Amino acid sequence: MRLFMLMPLFVWLYEIVSLIRPLKISAWYKFIFALILMVGISREFLYRRTARGFDVYELPYPALLAMSLIFNFLVITFFILLMKDACFIVWKIFSRAPFPGHCASLFVFSVSLCATLYGTYEGLRVPGVNSHEVVIENLGKEFDGLKVAMLVDIHADALTNREAVQKIVNKTNSLGPDLILMPGDFVDGQVISRFKDLEPLKDLKAPLGVFGSTGNHEYYYDLKGWLNALENDFGVKMLENEHVILKSGDAELIIAGVPDMTGGQMGISAAPDIEQALKDIPEGSPVILMDHRPNGAPRNAKYNVALQISGHTHGGQIPGIFQIAKKMNGGFVRGWYQVENMKLYVSPGTSQWNGFPVRIFDPSEITLFILRSPE
Ligand SMILES: [Fe+2]
Repeated sequence: MRLFMLMPLFVWLYEIVSLIRPLKISAWYKFIFALILMVGISREFLYRRTARGFDVYELPYPALLAMSLIFNFLVITFFILLMKDACFIVWKIFSRAPFPGHCASLFVFSVSLCATLYGTYEGLRVPGVNSHEVVIENLGKEFDGLKVAMLVDIHADALTNREAVQKIVNKTNSLGPDLILMPGDFVDGQVISRFKDLEPLKDLKAPLGVFGSTGNHEYYYDLKGWLNALENDFGVKMLENEHVILKSGDAELIIAGVPDMTGGQMGISAAPDIEQALKDIPEGSPVILMDHRPNGAPRNAKYNVALQISGHTHGGQIPGIFQIAKKMNGGFVRGWYQVENMKLYVSPGTSQWNGFPVRIFDPSEITLFILRSPE
């Protein structure tokens, strides 16, 4: 049995011992509570594992939602229980009084339940709009006021389903963007099962086009199938170490994209190559670059990129993970960063990821950039 299958069992057993056992309720209620938590770990066994991602079996939406709620409760409770048990050890060292196990378990249960309900709702709700005016060096006056919408980390699947993606698309269109950029992690699952969930992307409307680049999750499933669907069925022009030149009068604006590094690591696609992506661009024209992960920013900043837009971090998702996400992503987690002369914006993501479908104090967003030429 693999480690990823043992971990949920370990968490379940730990919660029986540390959370349920001290509660002053009948054995029958404890048994039912343990069974309910078992539903949360069964979710892990109902996922089809692919190379490094996973796809959800077709289950009724309410069943998926219930399993996700219980799974989120299990994970959140696990971390709070670790803190509770650290307090238990300190109590035992310094006090002869019996530890108030029942009250501590009730407290952990209440906090976890509130955090789970709030965090799951935050993950599922339609994202808000986060608008930024951004001055782009060398941007021609013809592009001043250009509206660029950014959607990233949609992770369409059985939970972020067709209906949820349609709401994101409708809200994006309501902003009247001139251009839409999507730097990766479109979907989790195979084309045959998840095509319908990502299909609303075909309704995106932007007169200057909809462009994308791959995220790591595109490589976990049917890469060729998804690239074909994105380009030919949904109208998303994928930029893989490529650029396009947008023109308005005498002004030019370069939109470039590099693929996520995962394809190169797995040997199934090109590695990110900023030199190739910007080959033969007109001198002096500003560049906006899509790069799924932010940690390539120091490298990209050396190529006169004006603005890099990234996702991948999900903003950390819950307090405590922020610092881990920071360490894993070159110090960039969410919001604005200045990297040499390049501006970097890291979106917390437009949706959620089914591996841990929760967001606490980290709302998802549709990002809207309003480009400004210098005064
Ligand atoms: Fe990602």
